[in-house]
Amino acid sequence: MSRDLEPEARELEHMFDISTEKLKEITEHFTKELTKGLSVDGGNIPMNPTWLMNKPTGYEQGTYLTLDMGGSKARVCQVTLKQKGQVENKQREFFIPKHIKTATANELWDYLAECVEAVVDKEGMLAKCQNDGEHQDDTLRLAFTFSYPVTQDSINHGVLQRWTKGFDVKGVEGQNVVSQLEEALRRKNVPVKVSVLINDTAGTLLASAYADPDTQIGAILGTGCNSAYVETCNNIPKLQHRNLAPDSPMIINCEYGAFDNEHCVLPRTKYDKLIDKESPRPGQQTYEKMTSGLYLGEIFRHAILDLHTRNQLFVGKQVPALSQPYALDCLHLSEVDGNGSSSLQSVLQISLEKHEMDLCQKLADLINARAARLCACGLAAICKKKGLSSCVIGVDGSVMLKNDVLRGRTMKALGEILDWDAKSRQAGEKGTGDTPIRMHFVKDGSSEGAAIAAAIAAAQA
Ligand code: BGC
Repeated sequence: MSRDLEPEARELEHMFDISTEKLKEITEHFTKELTKGLSVDGGNIPMNPTWLMNKPTGYEQGTYLTLDMGGSKARVCQVTLKQKGQVENKQREFFIPKHIKTATANELWDYLAECVEAVVDKEGMLAKCQNDGEHQDDTLRLAFTFSYPVTQDSINHGVLQRWTKGFDVKGVEGQNVVSQLEEALRRKNVPVKVSVLINDTAGTLLASAYADPDTQIGAILGTGCNSAYVETCNNIPKLQHRNLAPDSPMIINCEYGAFDNEHCVLPRTKYDKLIDKESPRPGQQTYEKMTSGLYLGEIFRHAILDLHTRNQLFVGKQVPALSQPYALDCLHLSEVDGNGSSSLQSVLQISLEKHEMDLCQKLADLINARAARLCACGLAAICKKKGLSSCVIGVDGSVMLKNDVLRGRTMKALGEILDWDAKSRQAGEKGTGDTPIRMHFVKDGSSEGAAIAAAIAAAQA
């Protein structure tokens, strides 16, 4: 770092560094909020029961059609479960066009129905995928991964609570997304009915548990940030009226991206506040806006723009691209963090001098480190709530899968919060897997988990 930029670097450190004590304070509050979400009155964190009441045995089999609607892509897959983590997944990926994110309900569902139609028609899935055995007709059963908060009364129903991840499609909040998708499929004469609705975190949990029965948590860090875990019904006061067996498991989709919407404990910077203000849903998803892939590049852009405006970076240069919202994404951030700059230079259309690169790298490092450390708080809160000192966390999501450093930092911070010894913390940081709590990566866990849920549901029907 060149000497004249040191004060700026110190100021940034001051904004983004989070001490072990602060992590512990955040986790303690987080744990209370998880419990509150399960209570009759509820709280900030929705803690949505998924009606997935069994983990897989590992012996589920069959071929299932799945649709996975994430923050930027839709995937239609033909998933064949063999057993014990052996899965074959033939998939086709569709990039969700930007305009769909703010379109009308019909436009969104018609688009998704067309994705399903494209695959079902062309690839002869009617012959391969299971209808559920109960209905001997030609209608295929679809397991639908919908990675947004829904209130579920059953496994194939879900009312959208609110959009997240920058989506703002009119006419879906407060509606049953399963009926809306099925209507669109009918409009297009696609012979498919939804048998299972599942969140990506619950899918990741199931996919990881299919291979490793020690899995207790499924976590996503990608465009959004969230986890699901295995609860028991006696700990869910808000379901008391359903008279469920008290010791029966229930997978809870926490939707903890909404943690600290009351702004009690998270150390928000002026950049976090700006992002929130300019987002389609201000005041919501406070934790997600500090940790997930959709926002990390935008935090980076706001911070660089601020330094530039204060004449501390790119002095005397014209950088109009910096004023473009979401011009930078988390890939630019990881590239700079890893000491590269070609894509950043091409987006900003300037060449970076050494001292400028140094400051951008420092900033990228701080933003990623903060995201990793905060991400550990949610995981630690579930472990503390459930008294889990050792278990497996199934993990999926582009940010976690593509960024080893961030992953290592998350594990190290988890060790700091849970008071692991120095050896385990180091192992966490290095990613050797020699830690009391391990991460198990399940690429495409969200789709594969949907197929597993469909298999479990079919076996119970
Ligand atoms: C959604 C969750 C989802 C997470 C990860 C959040 O924005 O609300 O349902 O699990 O993103 O995709």
